[in-house]
Amino acid sequence: MKVLGIESSCDETGVALVEALGSQLPVLRGQALHSQVEMHQAYGGVVPELASRDHIRRVLPLARHALAEAGWTVEDVDVVAYTRGPGLAGALLVGAGVACALGASLGKPVLGVHHLEGHLLSPFLSADPPSFPFVALLVSGGHTQLMRVEGVGRYELLGETIDDAAGEAFDKSAKLLGLGYPGGPALSRTAQGGSGTAFKLPRPLLHSGDLDFSFAGLKTAVLTQAKKLGDELGARTADLAASTEAAIVEVLVKKSLAALDRTGEKRLVVAGGVGANRVLREQLNAACAKRGVRVHYPELHLCTDNGAMIAMAAAMRLQAGMQEATTVYAFDVKPRWPLAEV
Ligand code: KG4
Ligand code: ZN
Repeated sequence: MKVLGIESSCDETGVALVEALGSQLPVLRGQALHSQVEMHQAYGGVVPELASRDHIRRVLPLARHALAEAGWTVEDVDVVAYTRGPGLAGALLVGAGVACALGASLGKPVLGVHHLEGHLLSPFLSADPPSFPFVALLVSGGHTQLMRVEGVGRYELLGETIDDAAGEAFDKSAKLLGLGYPGGPALSRTAQGGSGTAFKLPRPLLHSGDLDFSFAGLKTAVLTQAKKLGDELGARTADLAASTEAAIVEVLVKKSLAALDRTGEKRLVVAGGVGANRVLREQLNAACAKRGVRVHYPELHLCTDNGAMIAMAAAMRLQAGMQEATTVYAFDVKPRWPLAEV
């Protein structure tokens, strides 16, 4: 079974091809990605209308590129998958529209995929794939969730953010510190030259006894600290960035460990853009090694949005018999869509 996957939920256009043979783990055969970061940089964040228009321009050339890499023609594709949600409505409609048009013209079925399920299953594309069951820490720009994952499509929500996502905390703090967009990588780079203990910043809900997160108060604390520093901020930006990163990472690590304790699982999967963060990886690796817990990550280039995770999630859902692809090409998208509803 050959699956073409299209991702267009936010500011990356991704197209990829995976092949599933029998019940073996699907294998990535080709992929192409275009990041809109440069285009949105001038505005300090994603401009939805510009994102949609750029997806339209990019998606077919990227598909050609991925097919060429795989050595396939478009007629070789058995199923066309696309991100159905959550994400920006206009951006999602581009991927859904192109996927359904492609499916209809080829006479091949289509399948809408949940973006977070793509992130969640992306470590199965790595050289060291996990096995079920595991605890998953999903940390992206829009979501922060801990899940217990029993198998494909069997997800139990253990806790989630009650306000900002971890990626949002990185992005908003970076903006306050004048580090630009996308904030996560920028803040992380700046933090390398600073001390994580230089400033005392809040660790919201750290001792709440549940597995929920809250990051909205952190950016307010960063803003207060930045104002207090005034003219000195320039010289202390690295310290404040490092202290912000340390606060976010500490909460993510402690709550992940609490989730492992509560479920008794011995495997942790980390997925989503913030999973690329170096300090988070170092601290999770160290804490989990002590407890005999294996940690799995997607390949670094598959942490942020991409088409491979969408093709992979579609192939794994089909293999598991969780969903059937359809030849009804009337599509809709779901800008808001809880993962537990898939
Ligand atoms: O998963 P993703 O690409 O898109 C969403 O589905 O939201 O995640 C993007 C988020 C952004 O908030 C970005 O700042 C953050 O991931 N991010 C990072 C790093 N790389 C990306 N945050 C911290 N450290 C990084 N190295
Ligand atoms: Zn994402």
